[in-house]
This record gives sequence, C-alpha cells and structure tokens, in this order.
Amino acid sequence: MRGRKRHGAALAAAALVALLGLHGCDQKSDTAPLQPVKLDDRLSGIYDYSCKACHVNDATGAPQSHDVAAWKPRLDQGETVLIDHMVNGFRGMPPLGQCIECSAGDLVTLMQYMASPAEEKPE
Ligand code: HEC
Repeated sequence: MRGRKRHGAALAAAALVALLGLHGCDQKSDTAPLQPVKLDDRLSGIYDYSCKACHVNDATGAPQSHDVAAWKPRLDQGETVLIDHMVNGFRGMPPLGQCIECSAGDLVTLMQYMASPAEEKPE
C-alpha cells in the first residue's frame, strides 16, 4: 500500500539525464562509446580552445582524448558524477573545463568525444 516515498531524488536525477539528452538509443553509458563521436563546428571550436589544452597534454594528468582505456574507469563512475565533476571541477579539472558558456549537455558531448576512439583516417 505504501512505498513510492523517497524516489524524488532518483526521479530528479533521471529527469536531468533525460533533459540532457542522455537517454541514448542503443546503449547504457557505463561503457565507452565504441563509435567515434563527431563535434559540430561550435563544439569543435570549444574543444580546441578549452578542453584540448589539457586533454591532449599528458603532463596535466587529464585523461587524454581518444585514449579509450584511460576513459573507461572515468565513464564507469556514471553520468551524475561526471557531470558534477565537469561543472564543479575535480582535482586538476577546472570548473566547466574553463568553458564558461558550456551547458551540461555541451560538456557531456565533449566528454563523449574525448572518450570515444579517434575517427579512422585512411592511411
Ligand atoms: C586546465 C586543464 C583542463 C581543462 C582546460 C579541461 N580539463 Fe578536464 N580534466 C583535467 C584533469 C587534470 C583531469 C583529471 C582530474 C583527476 O582525476 O585528477 C580532468 C578530468 C576530466 C574528466 C573526468 C572527470 C572524472 O570524474 O574522472 C572529464 C569528463 C573532463 N575532464 C572533461 C573536460 C571537458 C569537457 C573540458 C572542456 C570543456 C575539459 N575537461 C577541460 C584538466 C582539464
């Protein structure tokens, strides 16, 4: 008869995830995306002047772009934690990744881009 009392937080988290468009079509987020992720021009620009400074520089301690193995344990933390760490900062990771105009959804897309394999280039 009772039950359904303390589900507010879980529902709010689910709603946030849904709002951010993270519901996905085919897979859960606990594994790295297998397909290379593409950025549109706007996000590509943001990546170049913001995330890239650290995420292609090993010395910063940041998980490197397209190093899928390095990203795996990060992604395993789940999106709620990852969004919190991106928005609020986490150790060497500055708040918002120094992208003041980024929405949470932008940050997630940028993260997925960095966590996905590099696009194959014909050799
Ligand atoms: C000033 C350097 C710097 C910039 C700029 C930066 N990062 Fe980071 N980022 C880091 C470092 C360092 C870590 C690793 C922190 C740790 O685990 O000690 C990190 C970790 C992360 C993580 C994983 C957090 C976790 O919980 O494991 C994500 C996601 C991330 N960055 C996304 C981004 C995005 C998106 C951008 C661009 C909008 C960005 N970062 C810009 C330095 C940076």
